[in-house]
Amino acid sequence: MKTNITKSAYGLTAAGDSVEKYTLSNTNGMKIDVITYGGIITSWTAPDKDGNYKNIVLGYDSLSQYLSGSPYFGAIIGRYGNRIANGKFQLDGQEYTLATNNDPNHLHGGEVGFDKVIWEASVGSPGDAAVLILTYTSPDGEEGYPGKLTSTVTYRLTNDDALEIDYMATTDQKTIVNLTQHSYFNLSGDFSQSILDQKVRILADEYLPVDETLIPTGEKRKVEGTPFDFKVPKAIGQDIEVENEQLKRGNGYDHCWVLNDHGSFRKVASAYHEETGRFLEVITNEPGIQFYTGNFLDGTLPAYGGGTYGFRSGFCLETQHFPDSPNQKEFPSVTLEPGQPYRSKTTYRFSVK
Ligand code: BGC
Repeated sequence: MKTNITKSAYGLTAAGDSVEKYTLSNTNGMKIDVITYGGIITSWTAPDKDGNYKNIVLGYDSLSQYLSGSPYFGAIIGRYGNRIANGKFQLDGQEYTLATNNDPNHLHGGEVGFDKVIWEASVGSPGDAAVLILTYTSPDGEEGYPGKLTSTVTYRLTNDDALEIDYMATTDQKTIVNLTQHSYFNLSGDFSQSILDQKVRILADEYLPVDETLIPTGEKRKVEGTPFDFKVPKAIGQDIEVENEQLKRGNGYDHCWVLNDHGSFRKVASAYHEETGRFLEVITNEPGIQFYTGNFLDGTLPAYGGGTYGFRSGFCLETQHFPDSPNQKEFPSVTLEPGQPYRSKTTYRFSVK
């Protein structure tokens, strides 16, 4: 048996552009729906301990809902995942100004980031993985960023229930780039439940404390003895209400962890839902991970299959370079030069325990 990809029409944008949906399936029965708008993963099924497959990512039922406003559900994020202070940065002494769409900062690529553009799709040859290749060329100056940037994101669903995501980008002018994937997981598969009982592990000795506007202060703080210690698996809800200035600023967890052993493709995080047995592992070569606990979900957005998405009904594990890196010399560089392709890789692998 082979993996499979099917294609269907998903809808039209306001400008009349057609959006397609690709369904990637593996031989176990895992199915991932990806639309060409934003490269959004609209649905991703994973088995529980009894072998029942259920969608475990937050999303909408239709394109019109994505078009009328989404907190980046399932989307590819670019050109810069996370925040840039005051929407400003410099390259070779020249200042660039970006949209301050998350007052007073720039967030996730601006007004029309990579989550809101149509990606060109092509399908890899059938075999031991279902492969969807998405490409988008962002013109010089788009959203204020310098250089024409061509990005390719490859989603590869394997027969061991892993989604391998390869990011590649090239530029014709010095620029910055930091791509990520913004799926919100709820391993219960029941979106009326909060994620507070799900256990997360993050292999990081340090995290990046933030100011009142969620920009890293520059300090790398030890997690030891703080609510930010996830070195051993811990229920998300265990310490989330502890009196702590950083938790107050994020309204919960909304921080970047400094992952151990930067420089290799290594396991960095996991999540586990005991009741269903669903276990998720995250493997990446990135230096950081933004762990966001859905603190801005407030019961107003319509949920997949009915109802609404409540407070903390999904969590994100966004692999990336650190927020505001263009303005923080001590952080690993996000500068991209012509002739030196950007490459990043993250795998999300499911199993049951
Ligand atoms: C950020 C949150 C933000 C969310 C958007 C996350 O990556 O860290 O602060 O609200 O994306 O829904």
